[in-house]
Amino acid sequence: MNRTIIKVKAFLKGIILMLKPHIFIGWLREPLLTMSNILSLTKWAASQDTKTILNDFYSPLRDYTKRYQLYQNVVDNLNLKNEGIDYLEFGVSGAYSFKWWLANCVNPDSRFYGFDTFEGLPESWGIYNKGDMAANVPNIDDIRGKFIKGLFQETVANFLSNHNLKNGKRKIVHLDADLFSSTLYTLTSIAPYLKKGDVLLFDEFNVPNHEFYAFKIFCDSYYIKTRLLAAVNNYFQVALIIE
Ligand SMILES: C[S@@+](CC[C@H](N)C(=O)[O-])C[C@H]1O[C@@H](n2cnc3c(N)ncnc32)[C@H](O)[C@@H]1O
Repeated sequence: MNRTIIKVKAFLKGIILMLKPHIFIGWLREPLLTMSNILSLTKWAASQDTKTILNDFYSPLRDYTKRYQLYQNVVDNLNLKNEGIDYLEFGVSGAYSFKWWLANCVNPDSRFYGFDTFEGLPESWGIYNKGDMAANVPNIDDIRGKFIKGLFQETVANFLSNHNLKNGKRKIVHLDADLFSSTLYTLTSIAPYLKKGDVLLFDEFNVPNHEFYAFKIFCDSYYIKTRLLAAVNNYFQVALIIE
C-alpha cells in the first residue's frame, strides 16, 4: 500500500514539473507564503507565556518609541547596566538604538559592534527601496563602540574569525536589518557562538515574510529554543533569551 502511494506521488510530481504551473499560478507564491507565515506567527504568539513580562498585546496603535521601554526592561531584568557584555547590532543606520545601548550599559568591559552597509538597504523592503536608510558612519566618543561597514555577507565572517566571541560574556544580538535575507544570514553566522542566556532583539519581528520568517527557519534548523523576555507594539519589537 505504502509503495503504491509513493509511486503515485512520484508520478504526480513528474507531471507537475512537466506542466510548469508557475507560468499560470506563480503569482500565488507570495500570498500563500504570507498566509503560511501569518499562521506560524499567530501560533508562535499564542504559545508564549506573557503574563509576567512587559507585553502590550493588544495595542491598537504602534508607538515606535516603546522600543526604548523594551530595552530598559531587558537591561533592568538582566542587570546589564553593570555586566560586561558583547552587544552586536546588525542594521545601524543613524545609530539611534546603538547609542541607547552604549549609553545605558556602562561596564568598561562591554563591547559594542555595529554592522551596516551605511549605503542603505541592499534590497527593497515593503515601501522602502534599495539604498533607502543610507547614513554616514556615526560619530561616537566611546572607545567601547566600533562600526563595521559593508554588507554583512562580506564582513561578518571575517569579523567572527578575528574576534573571540566565545569569551564567556553575555551576547546581546540586535537584529534590525529588516530583510529576510540579512536576518537569516546573520542568525546562521552567529549561531555557533550563541549560548544559554544570550539575548536576541528584533526590531520588526512581526513582519511575516522577513524577520519572523528568518527567526522561524533559524530556530527550526538549529534546534534553538528561546523564551520571550519582553514585547511591544504587538510583537513588532521583541526580546528573546536563548534557553
Ligand atoms: C532600520 S535600519 C537600522 C536602524 C537602527 N538600528 C536604529 O534603530 O537606529 C536597517 C539597516 O540595515 C542595513 N542592512 C540591511 N541589510 C544589510 C546587509 N545585508 N548588510 C549590511 N547592512 C544591511 C541597512 O543598510 C539599514 O541601514
